[in-house]
Amino acid sequence: MSAAAHETAPFGAVFTEKLSMSRWDGERFEEPHLEPVGPIPIHPAAHVLHYSSSVFEGLKAHRGIGGELRLFRLDRHIERMQQSARLLYLPAPDKELLERMIIEVVLEARDAIPQPPGSLYLRPTLIGTEANIGAAAAPSKEALLYVLASPVGDYFSGAIRPLKVVVESHRPRSTPSFGMAKTGANYAAALGLIMEAKHTHAADQVLFAPGGDVQETGAANFILLDDRRVLTKPLDPSFLPGVTRDSVLVIARDLGYEVIERDFTIEEMLEFAESGEAALSGTAAVLAGVGTILHEGRAHQVGGGHVGPNTLRLRAALTALQTGSTPDTHGWIRTIG
Ligand code: COI
Repeated sequence: MSAAAHETAPFGAVFTEKLSMSRWDGERFEEPHLEPVGPIPIHPAAHVLHYSSSVFEGLKAHRGIGGELRLFRLDRHIERMQQSARLLYLPAPDKELLERMIIEVVLEARDAIPQPPGSLYLRPTLIGTEANIGAAAAPSKEALLYVLASPVGDYFSGAIRPLKVVVESHRPRSTPSFGMAKTGANYAAALGLIMEAKHTHAADQVLFAPGGDVQETGAANFILLDDRRVLTKPLDPSFLPGVTRDSVLVIARDLGYEVIERDFTIEEMLEFAESGEAALSGTAAVLAGVGTILHEGRAHQVGGGHVGPNTLRLRAALTALQTGSTPDTHGWIRTIG
């Protein structure tokens, strides 16, 4: 596969040649091995197909300015995968095992890793494979862990452009206790509203704000910012504890912004947006600026409809750190060769 295929394909639709795989037999994960990316035999009664026992992660390997391979916040992503696995009653893989599988895949894909701003998106995935359609109220007794890799560019097509988000003020993205799990079911629950927002309003995403409480979008966390402040909802189990969210907050503090983590309402957001900026943060989204917020049929411009300067500044600071053009003062990078 050529290193430039990601430039023409949609995000996540091209893969490297090999993935790393390990089966769990109910007691232990077997020694992982590399195998060609392709269909995986799975029983039609597999637990994951019926009861959604599936968790995943999304992290990136970047090519550094000196050509070295740099994994961003590997430890944090592994911890979150372990937390998601526990929430789904799947076997949480040891840090050492998952780390080894991720590194093995990156090294194997070395030649397919794009130059910045492209990167290698890594998708560790864990699914329940026990063939038992009666096991609706029991954890899967077998599981499959694999790490898939995809050379990627921008998640939102059209490079850096102002996004349009539609506010959903009734339905939550997930349940109050399950939003913190990175599991397919949460994305499935959000899909209907996202489809509707796309078709009806040509929107990019839905911003979930049940009862007026601004949470996150269907694909990424959400922040408000201006020249002085960054405001975002404090972590709670109802939404995903984003690794990019955390990184952006740390970088913002380093740059002298006041970082405020507190709940805020739709009304406050719309008022803030009159003079400030809004952005989506996530591994795939990086930091993507919002230009329009649609609420109750009315379009509110954010940052004059453009991606704001503070969004661009924080995004540039994040990517500089990821690719090594600024020093890794927080110990976030694992250089692997
Ligand atoms: C990520 O940002 O890693 C995600 O999993 C979001 C997904 C919509 C691509």
